[in-house]
Amino acid sequence: MTANELRQKYLDFFKARGHAIIPSASLLPENDSTLLFTNSGMFPLVPYLLGEKHPAGIRLVNSQKSFRTEDIEEVGDGRHNTFFEMLGNWSLGDYFKAEQLAWWLEFLFVELKLDPSRIYQTVYAGSEDGKIAKDKESILILQDLFKKYGVSAEEGPVTTGKGVLGSGQELDFSRQRIFAYRDKNWWQKGDVVGELGGPDSETFYDTGKEHDLAYGPHCHPNCDCGRFLEIGNSVFMQYQKTAEGWQELKNKNVDFGGGLERILMVLNGQDSIFKTDLFTRAMAKIEELSGKKYADNKRAFEVIVDHLKAATFIVGDDHGVPPSNTDQGYIVRRLLRRAIRYGRQIGISQEKWLKEAALIFIDDYAATYPELKNNQEFIFAEFEKEEEKFNRTLEKGMIEFKKLATHDLNGVAAFNLYQSYGFPLEITEELAAEHGIKVDRQGFMAELQKHQELSRTASAGKFKGGLADHSEETTKLHTAAHLLLAALRQVLGNHVSQKGSNITAERLRFDFSYPEKMTPAQIASVEKLVNEAIGKGLDVAFEEISLSEARASGATGVFNSKYGDRVKVYTIGHNNGGRHASWEDIFSREICGGPHVSSLKNLGHFKIQKEEASSSGVRRIKAILE
Ligand code: ALA
Repeated sequence: MTANELRQKYLDFFKARGHAIIPSASLLPENDSTLLFTNSGMFPLVPYLLGEKHPAGIRLVNSQKSFRTEDIEEVGDGRHNTFFEMLGNWSLGDYFKAEQLAWWLEFLFVELKLDPSRIYQTVYAGSEDGKIAKDKESILILQDLFKKYGVSAEEGPVTTGKGVLGSGQELDFSRQRIFAYRDKNWWQKGDVVGELGGPDSETFYDTGKEHDLAYGPHCHPNCDCGRFLEIGNSVFMQYQKTAEGWQELKNKNVDFGGGLERILMVLNGQDSIFKTDLFTRAMAKIEELSGKKYADNKRAFEVIVDHLKAATFIVGDDHGVPPSNTDQGYIVRRLLRRAIRYGRQIGISQEKWLKEAALIFIDDYAATYPELKNNQEFIFAEFEKEEEKFNRTLEKGMIEFKKLATHDLNGVAAFNLYQSYGFPLEITEELAAEHGIKVDRQGFMAELQKHQELSRTASAGKFKGGLADHSEETTKLHTAAHLLLAALRQVLGNHVSQKGSNITAERLRFDFSYPEKMTPAQIASVEKLVNEAIGKGLDVAFEEISLSEARASGATGVFNSKYGDRVKVYTIGHNNGGRHASWEDIFSREICGGPHVSSLKNLGHFKIQKEEASSSGVRRIKAILE
């Protein structure tokens, strides 16, 4: 079966069951600064899962372009890619567990004719505090279904994420097919009040590979040894987070996501997603360019085709971004430069070859994602510019790196490789790991920030009175918005979260969750707190850390608990040395893309002009800096 056939079969199957086919949303999220890329089908649908009416109805199906930054390092094991398509179907308060599980298994076993004895399901074992019960309902539904398809479906012992079993318990995959996990089968998008969540049931395919003891004493569906491959996840979104904990929703939603590449791979009996027709022509192209074989250079080939495909989709999106040194553009730069470096490693000697690879993806996906063809010239031009830039410095940079690689690299050395030779920090780290040395990441970040502040000051001086002034005012108000949120949480309570903002050079508009009108005294307290922070002249600085580190450090913002993307966290307080460890008097810590002013010293006086209703449960503040 080809990828195009599989995608179409899935869409048609759910269309025949009352679902409206909706297009893939952009890979670049709109109105959400917490995540750089759309990483699952549900992400663009959050407002509808929260109860807003979707124009296409209450049953939806699509194939969503998705990108996961955190998988960049995972590419090379045959199972992971950064860009992938997520097949998704949704019930917005309509059908629930029985229909979802029955349809999904019917799709696998009847439509795709997959062997039922190869499929294993996991379910939620219940919360530790006992507040949310074990998902027995799904177990019973699944047992009935498996019986219908002629395979035994006993419930196996409850395992933790590491597959640890209670004493006397045994795993027997010939009889047991359903496994309950406590730490694996709960899905929620974020951690703040108002977020949706629920138990999920994941589908695993048994590749039959022998268990690798390096991963634990015995294999189990969530074991990382590679025997079991997750191909789909049915999330039963039946809870919403409140200040008191998880509450049942009136509307119970289904959010299903399945990996197109992985399903295609098992369907065709292949042992790697890179052997599917979604990569065949690209692999052949790289073999032609390098004169080497994929089979002999698996990791390098997989990194190259994965990264170039992902970059083609990100640059070629209708909201596409070119390579740059910030945010999404920086990820594109990393992808392209990493592909170029691996290309050299396997002997690609052409000065310019990225375009040829991009053209293959543009053609392969022409029927499904026509935006690639429409944006072809932009993709080509951006790839070529990046190639020129990196080629100019790559060789010299490698010589420099080898000179330095006799000992661990400090921040200044890593920053010099970045600044003078265009080595993204992650490439330096990767090269360092190959040489058995370390890089001081914190030191690098400190150097980077120092440099950014210098160039900001320089450009502010150069354009005095013109554009720079304008953007400086906006930047100040952006920082004021962080102060405002922190003050609102101090005055109204920590359950207050940001719902949106709009900032111009003149004023800031800020929406936040709160059920009632603020009193004049509350407004005055918020203003006072913000102006006190400004009066202290606190410092503002950012670190780039993982989401879990951000959460642990008490930062506000939307956390996506499942996908450990790296984020920027801005801290406002007294900074006694540029490192996270030496912050004092912290007023605000927030996940944010920036930019911000580096100190509150010249921010001015903060004044709230208006406090009004925005929508149900959401208030709006308009404020200025005088
Ligand atoms: N949103 C669910 C996931 O990403 C389907 O696994």
